Amino acid sequence: MTKTEAEKLLKKCNQEHVLAYWNKLSKTERDALLRQIAQIDPESVNRCANALSQGVKAFENSKGRAPKVALLKGKALAAAKAAGEKELASGRVAALLVAGGQGSRLGYEGPKGCYSIGPVTGAPLFYFHARKILARSIRYGASIPFYVMTSEANNEATVKCFEENDYFGLNPDDVFFFTQGMWPGMTKDGKIILDAPGHIFMSPDGHGGLLASLKRSGALEDMKKRGVKSVFFFQVDNPLVEIADPAFIGYHTIEKSEYTLKLCAKRDPYEKVGMPMKFGDTFRMVEYTEMTDEQCNRKAKNGDLYFLYGSPAIHVFDRAFLEREASKPMPLHLAFKKIPSLGPDGKVVKPSEPNGYKFEKFIFDILPNAKKAAFLAFNQKEEFSPVKNANGDDSPETCRRDMQAKWRKWLSEAGVSVDESLPVEIDPLYAQDAQDIKSLGICLFADI
Ligand code: UD1
Repeated sequence: MTKTEAEKLLKKCNQEHVLAYWNKLSKTERDALLRQIAQIDPESVNRCANALSQGVKAFENSKGRAPKVALLKGKALAAAKAAGEKELASGRVAALLVAGGQGSRLGYEGPKGCYSIGPVTGAPLFYFHARKILARSIRYGASIPFYVMTSEANNEATVKCFEENDYFGLNPDDVFFFTQGMWPGMTKDGKIILDAPGHIFMSPDGHGGLLASLKRSGALEDMKKRGVKSVFFFQVDNPLVEIADPAFIGYHTIEKSEYTLKLCAKRDPYEKVGMPMKFGDTFRMVEYTEMTDEQCNRKAKNGDLYFLYGSPAIHVFDRAFLEREASKPMPLHLAFKKIPSLGPDGKVVKPSEPNGYKFEKFIFDILPNAKKAAFLAFNQKEEFSPVKNANGDDSPETCRRDMQAKWRKWLSEAGVSVDESLPVEIDPLYAQDAQDIKSLGICLFADI
């Protein structure tokens, strides 16, 4: 991009001040600034500025009702599993991981997927995800292409982690990395914030940035070429997730749903999970931060929580639905934050109070646009134990505890007794359930 092109682009969104220090910049700084400006979409910047001047329409959550959630058992479960197995064997399933987040709550510097979680081997989160995909694709004799969304900040380290570990056994041709977009931070008046004379403050555009980057990177096109129909979506922090679970894929297919969500009964009224609610004929995800105390604690007639089933962010999308949504603008979520910025004298100020806005998009905001959505319940203990915080709930300690409880249960169901005091770890490639342990033999690492 040239300076003239940059001026033209900035004029379209009233952000000409971004070039205010041009004459003081070195050649390298100018080139870097032009590269940042080239990433800016004037239309999105105008949307962000309008959101600040006019406010974002708050949804009326009080009218939300709990959705109908299916619990599969017996014949229905067997039918869903068979339908999913057919999809997997036909190569119509892809796995899609969002791993662009910053892991700040965990206090870990690198990509969260590189965080060591294996109770015995210390293997990283990515290992468990990749090995599950590999195991599934071997079992069904068809590849499951793996799409990994990273951010500018962690893309290089993520790719390096896969390369150094030989892609954890996956075929590199079936792994597709793509980076999410970045959006500039803004002052209350809708002006882009510079955090150095030649540098725009930018932050990742949220996991909803997935849609635009799937399209921009060619990943959506790649899925189409490979004949993918169902896309299994998951988050990097949960090593218990049953990736491309046949019953879940099959349920999605049988229901002819465009967007199917796995939901789990909340551990307590205030568990930090999003809550899908029904508004008239459509569904929308209400974030835990938006729920009132009354909604969190409301009881159903049977004494359970009325809003019982929360979302652990395990979804199946129709590829065609993602394609349809990828060209549409998504709702914006604003966060008021402390952002380093240039003072009037051209010096950087680190504010002690929030002074500017970051903007994010959330993938579940496309839920109301699905022609058909479906919800499937599962047992939280078996499939959801995320690593979010350094200590306490949802920490590495609780996650390792839950991973081992699941494996111990499989071992015990397979008739293998394990000393409770020893840590256990099972390579997903060797066993995906108790039945595998019985029929394939055990690969058990115990720290003896
Ligand atoms: C998220 C969900 C919540 C759900 C919970 C389950 C949101 C707003 N809320 O909460 O509904 O119940 O997970 O664990 O998502 N990510 C990116 N790019 C970004 C931001 C995040 O790829 O710009 C990825 C992260 O790497 C992670 C996932 O999105 O894999 C979730 O991000 P996180 O910030 O941990 O979400 P939560 O607030 O925990």
